[in-house]
Amino acid sequence: MFAKIKSLCMNGLDPIPIDVEVDIHRSSLPSFSIVGLPDAAVQEAKERVRSSIRNAGFTFPLARIIVNLAPADVKKEGSGFDLPIAIGILKASEQIQFSDDPIYFVGELSLDGKVRQIPGMLPMTIHLDTIQKSSSVAMYCPWENLHEIYARKNTVYPIKTLTETIAFLSGTKKYIDYAVPEEELVDDSETFDFAEVAGQDFAKRALEVAASGFHNIMMAGPPGTGKTMLAKRLCSILPFMNENEAIEVTKIYSISGLLPSGKRLIKKRPFRSPHHSASYVSIVGGGATPKPGEITLAHRGILFLDEFPEFRKDVINMLRQPLEDGQVTIARMKSTISYPARFLLVAAMNPCPCGFFGDSHKECTCSSSQLLRYKAKLSGPIMDRMDIVTEVQRIEASTMIKGRKQESSAEISARVLKTHQIQQERYRGETFFFNSDIPAKTLHQYCLANEEAKAFLEKISQRMHLSGRAITRALKVARTIADMRASEMIEVQDIAEALQYRFRDH
Ligand SMILES: Nc1ncnc2c1ncn2[C@@H]1O[C@H](COP(=O)(O)OP(=O)(O)OP(=O)(O)O)[C@@H](O)[C@H]1O
Ligand SMILES: [Mg+2]
Ligand SMILES: [Zn+2]
Repeated sequence: MFAKIKSLCMNGLDPIPIDVEVDIHRSSLPSFSIVGLPDAAVQEAKERVRSSIRNAGFTFPLARIIVNLAPADVKKEGSGFDLPIAIGILKASEQIQFSDDPIYFVGELSLDGKVRQIPGMLPMTIHLDTIQKSSSVAMYCPWENLHEIYARKNTVYPIKTLTETIAFLSGTKKYIDYAVPEEELVDDSETFDFAEVAGQDFAKRALEVAASGFHNIMMAGPPGTGKTMLAKRLCSILPFMNENEAIEVTKIYSISGLLPSGKRLIKKRPFRSPHHSASYVSIVGGGATPKPGEITLAHRGILFLDEFPEFRKDVINMLRQPLEDGQVTIARMKSTISYPARFLLVAAMNPCPCGFFGDSHKECTCSSSQLLRYKAKLSGPIMDRMDIVTEVQRIEASTMIKGRKQESSAEISARVLKTHQIQQERYRGETFFFNSDIPAKTLHQYCLANEEAKAFLEKISQRMHLSGRAITRALKVARTIADMRASEMIEVQDIAEALQYRFRDH
């Protein structure tokens, strides 16, 4: 006897439809095998399926059972096939019957027949919603994933147990309407405020430019001047994500199993700050069961790399691809997998290992070979990709002690929001949102500069021997600075400020 059940499985950020085919031979010796490129977690489904079928009051057939997951060339990962396999066995052994309308099943089973949460529910329900547009489909999924449902009502049925699923399928129990939790706008994670940082007006301005146009920023300066403090406050001046960005980010957290329960859509931009001792895989992503790394979890938000030169050289070099095209490609055994990784990089560092190189009061005690090794970590290609490099200098004791009132994050973020709105208006219909993402082909259309500004950029670029990439990036930063004063035309002052953020190149 044979049954075919529909299910979904994640491949990177995209769900793929999988057919779970169950074949039962009564006349053969009892056995249970799963074929079709399953990973270890799928293999373990056997024990969970067997127990939960029994505990739901059904019989596990004493026969030869073969489960095939098709298509065979896609690697099946995770525990989401437990439910479709159990339903398939019950259907093939004629213990349950239900209509032939396409119904998808996803969920892990516990030994006592509870349906457990699985990662990736949000992309799966979005996928279902697109199929729903052309034909009628339904999906049974774990109740614990309720907050990740992003689809039309009467399409997705969150369920708690295997017994309940069967009762709904056979019509002995009517499905009761459920309410998907409202999206949560406020985030109660600890918030820091720019008002707490004394002085550092220059660095604050640079951070505001970075936030306004989503530009990468590197802060360098002696110990204890507030670099870490400033970086942690960047989030507080970045406006929330728009709907499309929010869905992208929530998908990533959904497949990583990191979506806090009760939160339907993440609106606040993520802030990730991996430690420099973190492994390559945890930062980049990948692994035996591929997972997004920190750079993907920081998508549309901030990736803060404190003590930047302390990071492994291969990690720093790897950043080149995502910094250029907003995604990361991970090589696997027979295939590659891509994850989005369009983050705002904030890097902080000391000017040298001892921290006092170039300091006006303290002497640097580093040897020249130490200095060279330190600098070598910051290869040209990486520095070339930094839009803004700013020095955070030692502040006067009086500034620290007097406690002059500083501008609050709320005041700054109100300005940043205006600049974001200008960009949203200008890039309506485009596939990008910020000045930092203007593609080469439309660079000159969007970065309108007057003759004087152009001549100035040309003169300084020659003098500073800037690379093509550096000039392009400077022009985009100038675009943001002009937007901050609501000017469509880029003028000399904008170019001058943008170039000032590149002087570290020399
Ligand atoms: N500008 C400032 N305003 C207020 N407090 C400051 C300022 N700079 C430093 N501090 C105080 O000093 C502490 C250390 O600052 P922070 O960790 O940001 O320095 P840092 O520049 O990152 O140093 P390091 O290079 O050693 O990492 C802060 O927690 C804060 O209490
Ligand atoms: Mg620090
Ligand atoms: Zn030093």
